Amino acid sequence: MLLTQSSVGRKLLMAATGLILVLFVVVHLLGNSSIFIGPSGINAYAEHLHSLGPLVWVFRLVMLVVIAIHIALGVQLTLENQSARPLAYSVKENLKATFSSRTMIISGLVLLAFIIYHLLQFTVQLPSITPFGAKAHLTELHGNMVPNVFTMVVTTFHSLFVTLVYVVGMIFLFLHLGHGVQSFFQTLGLTNDKTFPGIGVFGKVVAFVLLLGYVSIPLLIIIGAVNG
Ligand code: HEM
Repeated sequence: MLLTQSSVGRKLLMAATGLILVLFVVVHLLGNSSIFIGPSGINAYAEHLHSLGPLVWVFRLVMLVVIAIHIALGVQLTLENQSARPLAYSVKENLKATFSSRTMIISGLVLLAFIIYHLLQFTVQLPSITPFGAKAHLTELHGNMVPNVFTMVVTTFHSLFVTLVYVVGMIFLFLHLGHGVQSFFQTLGLTNDKTFPGIGVFGKVVAFVLLLGYVSIPLLIIIGAVNG
């Protein structure tokens, strides 16, 4: 397929926003893993984030713009791929591209739904979707009163339904990143016939490590390995 200058620019922007989102997912997992230290771990981490004050809102705004650009370009590329008429010599290429982009758009939109659910649960703390009304009530930490994020998360994952939603959400994260990481290197022109299979495996390994890390939190909580 012949790439116009603007489609190259859009693919680069897609790759750059994708990289920012992957970095967020890695840092978020490292932060969330402090739950394994116990209440003092994740509560101190959450308190540290909240103490950044207005910077938190700058960060949220930047992330919102990054996600919006990533989704808008993803939808646009998918629609363009679907409407492109396959030329005789590139029928196979087009079918392949359409299949992977279709998978990406589906996993991407499921992830968007997951993120909205997740934000309503842990950031907005909407009572109707927090099982057992698990809001982050205040608790004492080093002499200060801070939100009890530990109890909120642990109580929430005592629900089998919520745990299942997270496991399914993380499987879609795996599917999205498995292809996304490989796509990133391809966009930057870093793949050739020799490196392509290795980069494909690398993408799957990165996605799998993130899947394991993320699902370990709800699963270890629901089997009772993480307690308050
Ligand atoms: C087991 C999995 C996860 C757990 C336990 C978890 C936990 C949390 C918690 C406790 C918060 C609220 C932080 C606070 O305000 O103190 C939060 C916020 C957030 N999470 Fe997660 N998370 C998980 C997975 C994910 C994934 C996979 C994504 C993205 C794909 C994600 C994206 C976000 C975002 C965007 C926020 C909002 C950050 C902000 O308030 O600015 N989370 N998460």
